[in-house]
Amino acid sequence: MMQSNRYGLAALAALATLSLGGPAIAQETVKIGVIAEFSGPFGDYGQQILNGMKTYLKLHGDVFGGRKVEIIVKDTTGPAPDIAKRHAQELVTRDNVDILAGFGLTPNALAVAPVSAEAKKPMVIMNAATSVITTRSPYIVRVSHTLPQDTQPIAQWAAKNGIKRVFTLVSDYGPGVDAEGAFTKAFKAAGGEVVDSVRTPLQNPDFAPFLQRIKDSKPEAVFVFLPPGNQTIAFIKGYEERGLKQAGVKLIATGDLTDDGTLQSMGEPAIGLITSFHYSAAHDSPENKAFLKAYAETNGTKLRPNFMAAAGYDGMAAIAEALKKTGGSVDAEKFVAALKGMKLMSPRGPIMIDPETRDIVQTVYIRRVEKIDGLLYNIEFDKYPDVKDPGK
Ligand code: PHB
Repeated sequence: MMQSNRYGLAALAALATLSLGGPAIAQETVKIGVIAEFSGPFGDYGQQILNGMKTYLKLHGDVFGGRKVEIIVKDTTGPAPDIAKRHAQELVTRDNVDILAGFGLTPNALAVAPVSAEAKKPMVIMNAATSVITTRSPYIVRVSHTLPQDTQPIAQWAAKNGIKRVFTLVSDYGPGVDAEGAFTKAFKAAGGEVVDSVRTPLQNPDFAPFLQRIKDSKPEAVFVFLPPGNQTIAFIKGYEERGLKQAGVKLIATGDLTDDGTLQSMGEPAIGLITSFHYSAAHDSPENKAFLKAYAETNGTKLRPNFMAAAGYDGMAAIAEALKKTGGSVDAEKFVAALKGMKLMSPRGPIMIDPETRDIVQTVYIRRVEKIDGLLYNIEFDKYPDVKDPGK
């Protein structure tokens, strides 16, 4: 017994020596800690991001730059900065993750940014879209969008299409405040007037009093930013039921409102809505067709992939390409240098990581909700190429 045990240990030791000096496949895995919302009213955010990442791995394998990647998932349960930060600290100190990723909601991303900066860990943001986030750690790279980037085109489009008086309604936190500011600036510059503005709570908003106020002030249109989920569905319902549509108040928004993941639940009242955004499941390209097919094969058909899924996919692609460039090194300086200026062909169209801001440069499309074979889609009909975050 003793004998065979010793023999076993010796064999193991020999193997370990072999693998230490061996080829790159024997290197340790690259651990990616994904922090996002997997439960509560924003629970689809984490799911879409993770599904997008898995879709990339399904199509491209899981070894890049000679290193296998491993994903560790943590649920923030909603907008919960304390939980997000604790997850990040534990991932770094206990699980030894090399890269932090995910982040649907701004408060969670902002809470983790100092951990990225202090522990020198690359942090890949796959949704959270408040402009300022990327300035909070030199190791943050954002592959999703910013609200000003998606908002400016709809403001310009509205002014060009004869809309002169607009009421703005936004969610009362980072991305909403950014959207309100960007809309007002671009719309005024194009000759429009913002007649009034309201901000609604991030959690459980009741839109009734706001909808009444909008109706009473008789604008030509209302511009909206709301984070997708129950509240966007409730808003569309209220807009219809409170008679704003019938009163001729147009509804314009960033594509967060008509998000592909929730659009179908909005039904008829969503038809005809015009929004500006960087991703539509209806985007007509070979890359998007391949993405949609692989997403369904990887994750099933319960969720239609939305912009967060596309950013999860692109974020995984960016990590994979950076690992190839650094030869598997995850040293934060080298890794972020490899990401700066990176160009990828995304399911949304061409994208580039701005080497100055570490934010994304991309095409923003103007789209209209249409019913095709019984299903609602955002159909792109105009575009603004190479849009940067205008605030930077
Ligand atoms: C954010 O919290 O930054 C956020 C959430 C949902 C969106 C956009 C931005 O659709």
